[in-house]
Amino acid sequence: MQSVIRVALIAAALCVGAPAQNLPEGSGRAEIENLCKKCHDLAKTVSLRQDRNGWGATLNKMTALGMKAKGKDLRTVLDYLATNFPAEEVPPVNVNKARAIQLESRLSLRRSEASAILRYRKEHGDFQSIDDLKKVPGIDVAKIEAKKDRLAF
Ligand code: HEC
Repeated sequence: MQSVIRVALIAAALCVGAPAQNLPEGSGRAEIENLCKKCHDLAKTVSLRQDRNGWGATLNKMTALGMKAKGKDLRTVLDYLATNFPAEEVPPVNVNKARAIQLESRLSLRRSEASAILRYRKEHGDFQSIDDLKKVPGIDVAKIEAKKDRLAF
């Protein structure tokens, strides 16, 4: 049952991607329409947001699935996708200002960890660095370390 729901959700997510007619103008658009529409609609093509490496990997995957494209066209398509559908910028979480719910959702912390951070902040003042954050009792240090690029102080 659960997997049925998941498939339905993925299908829905793919359908709400940018409609074909909304592909931004630019060199590469015509190639995309020719190449990618052979196997699936364009909404699926641009449902992803990823960096250049990610798009390169997707194009390799499509080639492995049978897409036939000239090297020149592939490069044009890669430029187009990397420019128009780049990875979404996620602003960092300021741990001195964030509310508990933001710490939970943006850093995947447990509720108990988020409230421990708030309590510590109240008692000790602002965190100066990730080392301060690691001193919070009950915090999963590995989890904090893994998210260090998303932290701001
Ligand atoms: C030969 C057929 C074929 C062509 C041509 C093709 N695709 Fe795909 N594509 C697939 C298949 C099959 C899937 C589903 C793969 C899966 O679920 O593992 C897919 C899935 C995708 C996905 C969903 C994410 C993913 O990695 O599964 C994206 C994004 C995508 N294609 C982009 C493109 C782009 C961009 C082009 C044109 C440059 C393209 N495809 C051309 C067959 C193709």
